[in-house]
Amino acid sequence: MTRQKLAVWVAGLIASIAGADARSCSLVSTPGQVGVIPTWDIQSTSRVTTDPLALAKPGVDTSSWHHPNVSRCTLMACLLASPDFKQTDTDLFYSNSLEHFDVDQFRVPWLYRNEFALKPTPGQHYFLQTNGITSKADVFLNGKKVADKVLQSGAYGGHSYEITNIVNRTNALVFKVYPTDYFQDFGVGFVDWNPKPPDNGTGVWRDVTIKQTGPVALGPLRVTTTFNKPVGQGSAVVTLKATVQNLENRVVTVAADGVVGSTKLTKSVTLQPLATGVVALQTTIDNPDLWWPARWGSQTLYDAQLSVSVNGTVSDKTEKKFGIRQVTHQINAYNDSIFSVNGRAFQVLGAGYSSDIFLRWDTAKFTTQMQYVLDMGMNTVRLEGKLEHPEFYDITDRLGVMVMPGWECCDKWEAWPYNDNIDQPAVWSDADYATANASIYHEAATLQTHPSVLMYFVGSDFWPDDRAAAIYVGALKALDWQLPIIPYAARKDGYPAIVGPPSMKMDGPYDWVPPNYWWDVTPPSTDRLGAAFGFGSELGAGVGTPELSSLSKFLSVSDLASLWKQPNATLWHMSAPDSSFATREIYNLGLYGRYGAPRSLDDYLLKSQMADYEATRAQYEAYSALWSAPDRPATGLIYWMLDSAWPNLHWGLFDYYLHAAGAYFGTKVGGRTEHVAYDYVSRAVWLINHSLDRAGARTIDWEVLGLDGRSVAKGSAKATTEPNSSKSVVDLSKAFGSSSNSSVVFLKLVLADDKGAVLSRNVYWLAPTVDALDWADSSWYHTPVSKFADLSGLDKLAAAAVKTTVSTKSGGGGLKVVLDNGASSVPAFFVRVNLVDGGGEDINPVFWSDNYVTLWPGETLELEASYAGKGAKVQVSGKNVAKVEVAVP
Ligand SMILES: *[C@@H]1O[C@H](CO)[C@@H](O)[C@H](O)[C@H]1NC(C)=O
Ligand SMILES: *[C@@H]1O[C@H](CO)[C@@H](O)[C@H](O)[C@H]1NC(C)=O
Ligand SMILES: *[C@@H]1O[C@H](CO)[C@@H](O)[C@H](O)[C@H]1NC(C)=O
Ligand SMILES: *[C@@H]1O[C@H](CO)[C@@H](O)[C@H](O)[C@H]1NC(C)=O
Ligand SMILES: *[C@@H]1O[C@H](CO)[C@@H](O)[C@H](O)[C@H]1NC(C)=O
Ligand SMILES: *[C@@H]1O[C@H](CO)[C@@H](O)[C@H](O)[C@H]1NC(C)=O
Ligand SMILES: *[C@@H]1O[C@H](CO)[C@@H](O)[C@H](O)[C@H]1NC(C)=O
Ligand SMILES: *[C@@H]1O[C@H](CO)[C@@H](O)[C@H](O)[C@H]1NC(C)=O
Ligand SMILES: *[C@@H]1O[C@H](CO)[C@@H](O)[C@H](O)[C@H]1NC(C)=O
Repeated sequence: MTRQKLAVWVAGLIASIAGADARSCSLVSTPGQVGVIPTWDIQSTSRVTTDPLALAKPGVDTSSWHHPNVSRCTLMACLLASPDFKQTDTDLFYSNSLEHFDVDQFRVPWLYRNEFALKPTPGQHYFLQTNGITSKADVFLNGKKVADKVLQSGAYGGHSYEITNIVNRTNALVFKVYPTDYFQDFGVGFVDWNPKPPDNGTGVWRDVTIKQTGPVALGPLRVTTTFNKPVGQGSAVVTLKATVQNLENRVVTVAADGVVGSTKLTKSVTLQPLATGVVALQTTIDNPDLWWPARWGSQTLYDAQLSVSVNGTVSDKTEKKFGIRQVTHQINAYNDSIFSVNGRAFQVLGAGYSSDIFLRWDTAKFTTQMQYVLDMGMNTVRLEGKLEHPEFYDITDRLGVMVMPGWECCDKWEAWPYNDNIDQPAVWSDADYATANASIYHEAATLQTHPSVLMYFVGSDFWPDDRAAAIYVGALKALDWQLPIIPYAARKDGYPAIVGPPSMKMDGPYDWVPPNYWWDVTPPSTDRLGAAFGFGSELGAGVGTPELSSLSKFLSVSDLASLWKQPNATLWHMSAPDSSFATREIYNLGLYGRYGAPRSLDDYLLKSQMADYEATRAQYEAYSALWSAPDRPATGLIYWMLDSAWPNLHWGLFDYYLHAAGAYFGTKVGGRTEHVAYDYVSRAVWLINHSLDRAGARTIDWEVLGLDGRSVAKGSAKATTEPNSSKSVVDLSKAFGSSSNSSVVFLKLVLADDKGAVLSRNVYWLAPTVDALDWADSSWYHTPVSKFADLSGLDKLAAAAVKTTVSTKSGGGGLKVVLDNGASSVPAFFVRVNLVDGGGEDINPVFWSDNYVTLWPGETLELEASYAGKGAKVQVSGKNVAKVEVAVP
C-alpha cells in the first residue's frame, strides 16, 4: 500500500466510523425537533452499478466513495471536502488550472448517500425536508422512491416529504442528482461574473433535515407587524402565524401557544381529519424598540415561539427572531424607486453580493464581508440569485445591513420568449412553473421574519411572464409578505400588471468610466445612462484590482507579466472568457491614457489603485450628493460588485482573500456619514449628511496645492446641513484651474464640527481638464472617453520623506500608525499602509480607519487598524514615498 492509498483507506475508515456514530444515535427523538443529515458519501453513477433503490437500503458498502465531512456541498465542494481528493482550491484557482479541470465527469448523475438512526414511535410523524437540490434529484429512502426529479427540482425548490410509513431504526437515504445546464435547469449560475464551476453547482448544496412531529405539524413561522400610528410613535401589533396540518384521520383539537418576548399567547383550533388550517396569535407591543439599519440606530431583535399541543403533549414547535421595522416603497415623479425604513427616506448605498464559486458557506468570512460593507459606509447588499442559507440573514439582521434578494438573470430563470439576452430560451413547462412556485414558497418562508430584508425582486434583467408573476406574488402574499415586491431591476418595455411598472435602471456601466461620469447629470437626465440619478440596480466602473500580495496567490509569473505588459490580453481571472469583460482593455486604455504607460508591475498596480480609488469615490460621492437633487434625485446605487466568487481581477470592493485596497478606501471615503465631496463637473463642493441625528454648525476648509507643494488657492466656508439633503457649499469653478492649466493639482477638503473636530478629510488629484465623455457612443457596459484627463504629471512628483511611527492600541487588538510628512515640501501622495505577519504575509481582514492617503507638506496623519492575529510589520509606500517596513512594537 502506498502512503497515499493508506491515507485514503484511513480516511475511509474514519468516515465509516463517523457514519456508524450517526447511525447509532437517533437524529431526532422529540416532537418539533429537526436534525441535519451531517455528512455524505458521494459517487458518480458512472462508477456505481447498483440501482439507487438498492443503495437506499442500510448496510451498503460505500467505503470506496468520497466522504465529504460536511452537511451540504455541491459536487465540487464535496470533492474539495473529501480526504481522498488531492487538489485544494488554492491549486484550482492558480493561473488557469480550472480551465483544465475535467468537466465531463459532471455530465452524468451523481449519488449522495447516508444512513441515519431514528426511534420511530407510534403516533409520531417524520418528514424528510430538502431546501433545494441542483439541478434536480430522485429521492430514495429505505428502498422506496420518495420523490422524482420532476418534483424535487431547482436550487431553491425546498420540499417536505412525509416519511412516517417508511422510517425504521436504521435508515438509508439516497439522492440521485442530475447535471445542471443553466439554460435548461433552475440552478445558481454566475452569468458572466467568472468561469463556470466545472459542476455548474450541481448537488445537495443546502442542508437536508429530518423532522419529527406528533399528530399535527406546523408550517414555517411568519411574523407580521402593523402600526396604528406612524411607526415609532405608538404601538405595534405583532401576529405570529403558521399553517397547522392535522396528519391523522380524525378530528383534532389543537392548543396553540405563542411567546413574543415575554408575552404568552394561547388559542385553540379544531381541525377536521387530515385538514390544514392557519393558526394566528396576536399581541400589541407599546413603544416597541425598532430595528434600524446600522447607521440609524440599534438592531433590536425579538424572540417569537409557537408550539401546538394535542391533549397536553407538544406536537410541533418552531421559533424565530424578528425585528419591528417598516419598509415602504414609492415610485417618484421620475418613475424611480425610493425606499423608506421606519418612515425615513432610505437612500440605498450598496453592492452586489456573490456566493463562493463552489457555493461553500463560511460564516466567519461572510461576517467580515458584512462588517466591511458597514465600514465602507454602505447600507445594503443585493442578491441576484445567490440566495444563501438562513445564517446569511441572521448575520445581516444582527449587523443592520439591508438585503435586496431576488432571482437571477440570463438563464432558465428568465427564459422568456421576449428575453433577447438568451439565444434560445427554453420555454417553461408546467413542471417549471411548479418549480418556480416551490422556489418562491421556500425562499419567502426563509426571508419573511428577517428585518434586514428590504424587498424582493421577482425578476432581474427581465420581468417574469404573467403566469410566473402571479405565482410569485401569490406565494409572497400567502406567506404574509409585507415588503415591496419589485418586478425586475431594469427598465425595459414590459412588466407584469400584478406587480406594477419597473422603477430601476440597469444601463451600466460595468467597465471603466472616469470619475466625472457620475457627476455629468444634465437635466433632463435620461440620456446619461449610469450617471448619478435614479436607482441604479447594478453599476460601477468595474474596478477592484487586488494588490500584489493577493495576486501572487493565484497568478503565475507569466500571468503577472502579461497583466501590465499586454494591456489587451484575455485574462482567465477576469469575467467568464466568453463575456465582454474577459480583458482589461477598457480599463487599461484609461489607465495608460490618464496616468501614462506603467514602467513596472509595481507602477501598474499603484496606478490601478489610484484609478480604482477615484472611480469608487466619485460614484458614492455623486450618488450621496445628488440624493436631494431637485431635477432627479439619486435614490439608490448597487455597485457591481461587492465581492467575487473566486480570486479575480475586477468587480469587487475587496479581494477574495478579504484584502482591502484602492476600491475599498475610495468607497469608504465616498460613503462617510458626514462628508464633503468635489463635483468634477460643476466644480462645486458638496456637504453630505447621511445621519438622522448629528447636528450643529460645520466648517469646510479647502486648499489647492501644485505638484511643487505650493499653495495655489485656499478658503473656508461655514454651513449648517439640512435634514435628508445635501447641498453645494463652495464654488471652486474660479478658484483654480486657469492659472495652473498645464499641471496636476491636489485639492484637500476638510469638514469639521463647531468644536473643530475633523469629520471628513478628503484629497483629490486633478488634471487641468476632466475626461471628455463620448456619451453618444455608450454601450450597455461603458461610455468611452474621447480625450483623457492628463494626470501623467504625477510621475514627476518629487520624493516625500514620510516618517512612520507604529504603536499598539492600549487594550490590544489594534494599531496606531502615525504618518508624518513634516520634513517634505511636497505632498506625500497616495500612501498605503499594509499589515503583515512574521512571515511577511498579509493579515486579512484589517479594518483601517483610512488608507491610500495623501498628506500635505508638514502634515501628520494618524491611522488606526483593528484586526485579529499577530501583526509583525507595517509596510508603508506611496507614489512618491519609498517603501519602508516598520516593526510592530
Ligand atoms: C467531521 O466534522 C466534525 C464537525 O466538524 C468533526 O467533529 C469530526 O471530527 C469530523 N470527522 C472527520 C472524520 O473528519
Ligand atoms: C425495519 O428494519 C428491520 C430490521 O432491522 C426489518 O426487519 C423491518 O422490515 C424494517 N421495517 C420496514 C418498514 O422497512
Ligand atoms: C453547464 O451549463 C452550460 C450552459 O450554461 C452547458 O453548456 C454546460 O454543458 C453545462 N456543464 C455541465 C458539466 O453540465
Ligand atoms: C385526546 O384524548 C381524547 C380523550 O382523552 C382521545 O379520545 C383522543 O383520541 C386523544 N387525541 C389524540 C390525538 O391523541
Ligand atoms: C412614468 O411611467 C408612466 C407609465 O408607467 C409614464 O406614463 C410616464 O410618462 C413616466 N414618467 C416619466 C417622468 O418618465
Ligand atoms: C404553489 O405551492 C403551494 C404550496 O405548496 C400550493 O398550495 C399551491 O397550490 C401551488 N400553486 C401553484 C400554482 O402551483
Ligand atoms: C489595445 O487596444 C487599444 C484599443 O482599445 C489599442 O489602441 C492599443 O493599441 C492596443 N494595445 C496593444 C498593446 O495592443
Ligand atoms: C428625502 O429625500 C428624498 C430624495 O430626495 C425625497 O424623495 C423624500 O421625500 C425626502 N423625505 C423627506 C421626509 O423629506
Ligand atoms: C442630518 O440630517 C438629519 C435628518 O436626516 C438631521 O436630523 C441632522 O440634524 C442633520 N445633521 C446636521 C449636522 O445638520
